[in-house]
Amino acid sequence: MGHDPTREPEGAAIEVRDLHKALGGRPVLRGVDLEVNRGEVFVVLGRSGGGKTVLLKHLVGLLRPDRGEIFIDGVEITRLPERALDRVRLKMGMLFQEAALFDSLTVFENVAFPLREHTRLGLREIRRRVRECLERVGLGDPEVEGLYPEQLSGGMKKRAALARALALRPQIVLYDEPTSGVDPAMGREINGLIVQLSRELGVTSVVVTHDLEGAFQIADRVALLEGGTIAAEGPPEEFRARDNAAVRAFLRLQRES
Ligand SMILES: Nc1ncnc2c1ncn2[C@@H]1O[C@H](COP(=O)(O)OP(=O)(O)OP(=O)(O)O)[C@@H](O)[C@H]1O
Ligand SMILES: [Mg+2]
Repeated sequence: MGHDPTREPEGAAIEVRDLHKALGGRPVLRGVDLEVNRGEVFVVLGRSGGGKTVLLKHLVGLLRPDRGEIFIDGVEITRLPERALDRVRLKMGMLFQEAALFDSLTVFENVAFPLREHTRLGLREIRRRVRECLERVGLGDPEVEGLYPEQLSGGMKKRAALARALALRPQIVLYDEPTSGVDPAMGREINGLIVQLSRELGVTSVVVTHDLEGAFQIADRVALLEGGTIAAEGPPEEFRARDNAAVRAFLRLQRES
């Protein structure tokens, strides 16, 4: 067999090696190592203030580490110049913790924004793509397109932000607390979407969450970020059964809260 150009490159979708970062004079990440396989749903658990958002921001190059390496699709990004980093970023969509929609733009314009910014697609194709993304997240009702973020419920905001994260058809989607601040039914719906995107589009997903039940339902693998490192990691059942002090303490803490 000859070389097949459509074949995915070898190796992990994301690899983090010995990542260190101090912020405000305090070490937050103290040697994080992890690998996320292509197409998998990788969930990162950890207590509030533990550095989960900081970790995600490193994966998209919004923060630069003090030490360590990050490979996205085999490309080491921590020392890339901004222009080259932008190219890698186009492979990734991020759903930020606070949804981060542009308040002055309608839902349509929010989702169209990355397409206008990073592609030369015409209006007709932009319309088609925006609708496709909104339908995918269950916001297919044409009336929603013209609404402004302040007119949306929390769950709709999350879904609109997810539609925007999907606009450029990313291979990797990073979710920061996708179910926080929404009711359990909406949480289940969003978790269902994450799994569906992974299955139907082959998206590689990294999900940061407090939502323990949801995490165990959607994860191919679960990791616990504790004390600035990955304290434990594995498939949900293995993880839950771990005889690991950090895991036991975290699970106990969650059950009590
Ligand atoms: N830009 C910054 N400057 C200084 N300190 C920061 C900055 N960003 C984060 N931190 C600190 O880094 C630590 C980790 O923050 P991070 O937001 O990653 O926590 P988290 O695990 O996402 O928490 P949560 O579950 O509440 O979202 C916190 O102590 C936070 O105060
Ligand atoms: Mg956070």
